[in-house]
Amino acid sequence: MENSNVNVNVNMFEALKGNSLGSPEEPPYDPLPPIEDLPLPSTFRWGTATAAYQIEGSPTADGKGPSIWDTFSHLSPSRTNNENGDIACDHYNRVEEDLDLMASYGMDVYRFSIAWTRIIPLGGRNDPVNAQGIAFYNKLIDGLLARRIEPIVTLYHWDVPAALYERYGAFLDTAEFVADFETYARVCFEAFGDRVRKWVTFNEPYIIAIFGHHSGVLAPGRSTETGGDSSTEPWVVGHTLILSHAAVVGLYIRDYAGAQKGEISIVLNGHWYEPWDASDPADREAAQRRLEFYIAWFGDPIFLGKDYPSAMRAQLGDRLPQFTEEELARLRQLASRHTFYGMNHYSTKFAKALHEPPPLDDCTGNVEELSTNKTGRAVGPVSGMPWLRVAPHGFRKLLGWIWARYKLPIIVTENGCPDPGESQTPVEQAIEDKFRMTYLGLYLDTISRAITEDGVQVEGYYVWSLMDNFEWSAGYGPRYGITHVDFQTLVRTPKRSVWYLKHTFEERRRGSLTRSH
Ligand code: NOJ
Repeated sequence: MENSNVNVNVNMFEALKGNSLGSPEEPPYDPLPPIEDLPLPSTFRWGTATAAYQIEGSPTADGKGPSIWDTFSHLSPSRTNNENGDIACDHYNRVEEDLDLMASYGMDVYRFSIAWTRIIPLGGRNDPVNAQGIAFYNKLIDGLLARRIEPIVTLYHWDVPAALYERYGAFLDTAEFVADFETYARVCFEAFGDRVRKWVTFNEPYIIAIFGHHSGVLAPGRSTETGGDSSTEPWVVGHTLILSHAAVVGLYIRDYAGAQKGEISIVLNGHWYEPWDASDPADREAAQRRLEFYIAWFGDPIFLGKDYPSAMRAQLGDRLPQFTEEELARLRQLASRHTFYGMNHYSTKFAKALHEPPPLDDCTGNVEELSTNKTGRAVGPVSGMPWLRVAPHGFRKLLGWIWARYKLPIIVTENGCPDPGESQTPVEQAIEDKFRMTYLGLYLDTISRAITEDGVQVEGYYVWSLMDNFEWSAGYGPRYGITHVDFQTLVRTPKRSVWYLKHTFEERRRGSLTRSH
């Protein structure tokens, strides 16, 4: 998710073939390589991902309570393109149809999130549990298993109970939030853990902290301009997320992992950053620092059991909360219990060092982010989102960076893009999604290369998304789905990517790929 809903109305697929530069306003970029359908391990698992608020609809059905997204998407003036998730894809009522769709795609896994307010409508540790909410996810999980699709469950994908936000500011009160999140997680482990083998605590903590509490473009919409404090709140929120994650991982390992035989981790997102001027050491350092402010902010405490990266401490001082000795000891203990790294990744940007001292509310590491480098070249062709350019070479570098730093098997828990102009085209044209197919093919080739040539362990790949859905502040404009959804009739139509994915995974896994480590 990024802060733009502008779609570029040009067909860039021609540009993907290599030499053409697309529309005249578009900057030049190096030609992309051809898709090679390189092999993947026979054990490699593919699937699709979604999130509750983006697809379910039915915000008050069967006792569901409101989340901050129900509030945020109904604000006036609208901050979500005058759209909301009240109906979305109506997945809540069409779950059987969607399960059949998934089965027809031949996918191995389905990553979805649970809406906290379906399970505990008010959210708190002393609030009542809603059996009807549990029944819905039981139906979904059982339906997946009956179709031999593995459920991968995200506990939190941005929809904190509105009541908790009203009571104590949600993530802004670390102790309260940890206790409530732990209770909610326990209810989920008790209810679903007999059938779920992979859990994710939080989806994209960076976005929760920065987009929710710094720029305020996502719920709960906090920033200095709207009564928050962009120079302090994001760091408190990040701290809460890390400690809540640790509490729930600890809980799962102590009380459930043995009997339920599952794994639990977190999903971190991040772009790759190239230096704006590759010959300038300051820009090379800026690119590294940007990655630390984005990914290592969470990755180092969680996967290494260490304090925040020193570049963050140096810049943010006391505004970055301190871990107590006890918390650090606990983080260290838990670090090695993680068995996978959940990676959401979409694109690459350029990082340029800023030379003046950063403003107090800087969250980048004093770096300017650009879509072109010093010579005016872009990283690749632009998709249907202005910030999302096709850059498989950046993906490969980021896979290597994560592997080198955290030494954990990687699951790509989200990747994908909208086709340029897709949201302005009728369904017949939208389903001919050549741009997306090319993007997916190149990113899968990259995984193959990372495994065979770089020795990176990558275990799975989940496309964002199963179907077109509510893209947060951008509403229904951007279409990331491999299934087209007509938001008037709610009819689902598979796009061509579906058949490409089905076929390419069959082919790629048929190869005799062995890991190089
Ligand atoms: C990240 C988020 O997890 C998801 O909710 C969002 O729709 C996609 N990426 C696309 O922006």
